[in-house]
Amino acid sequence: MTGRFSGKNAIVTGAASGIGRATAHRLAGDGANLLCVDRDEAGLADLLASLTGSHIALTADLSLAQACTEVVQTALRHWDGRIDILVNAAAILIRQPILEHSRETWDLTIDINLKAPFRLARDVVASMIEGGIRGAIANVGSIEAVLPIAGHAAYTASKGAVTMLTRSAAFETAPYGIRVNAVAPGATATGMNADLRRDDPDRWREMLSGTPMGRHALPEEIASVIAFLVSDEASYVTGAVVTADGGWTLH
Ligand SMILES: NC(=O)c1ccc[n+]([C@@H]2O[C@H](COP(=O)([O-])OP(=O)(O)OC[C@H]3O[C@@H](n4cnc5c(N)ncnc54)[C@H](O)[C@@H]3O)[C@@H](O)[C@H]2O)c1
Repeated sequence: MTGRFSGKNAIVTGAASGIGRATAHRLAGDGANLLCVDRDEAGLADLLASLTGSHIALTADLSLAQACTEVVQTALRHWDGRIDILVNAAAILIRQPILEHSRETWDLTIDINLKAPFRLARDVVASMIEGGIRGAIANVGSIEAVLPIAGHAAYTASKGAVTMLTRSAAFETAPYGIRVNAVAPGATATGMNADLRRDDPDRWREMLSGTPMGRHALPEEIASVIAFLVSDEASYVTGAVVTADGGWTLH
């Protein structure tokens, strides 16, 4: 297959749904070989059936450190030690007012949204440095890193930290020619908010009313930013957090 990712090996987490799934399609469509990771086995099977090219899937719960290790080891075994791209899209959002936030939901959110991207990036970067690979990592942050939404304390905190994880990892890996960037999406129609759109459409419309473009994003519109960030077209871009929010954070 030809394309701008032809011959590149890419790990995409959260690939069974939403932005991760759209990113998998985008990268595969441009020639990448994928390792698609998610805890949703059926979703992964559905994704793989919809892709053309040479791809594998791994069902893994990324809240567990050992699962993150296995993801990178699986990729290294399958691709003879070469990983070019990592996209950290998997995350959860548990809506809970701060006074009701339990230790368990706080820890789970931080484990999946922050520790997993760190663990995966650390092991992927180690392999890139060892192999002399000038690779690229894209994290999926959120505009909630700068604009909190009530009831999202753990999620918002995790996304704020993902921004700075992105910037510090970019700083340390730049000398090796490795680039680390993030996209900060606004409201995007995915599995993460399917319940809100179904059960409380007025609240969803109210959120969108503050978006100058007056609509939510499609996952493909975020995937195209990710694809740019991990492509050679962004060869001088590192440590950037690219906002894709229809103008939400303009005011
Ligand atoms: N949808 C939005 O409005 C929005 C806005 C800003 C940022 N984001 C970010 O976009 C990214 C993708 O989310 P989405 O909106 O596509 O949601 P989504 O729910 O459609 O997709 C998230 C995927 O992550 C997977 N996942 C969750 N926990 C996991 C775990 N422990 N192990 C493995 N996989 C796990 C889920 O199974 C799911 O397939 C997330 O980082 C999210 O925070 C989304």
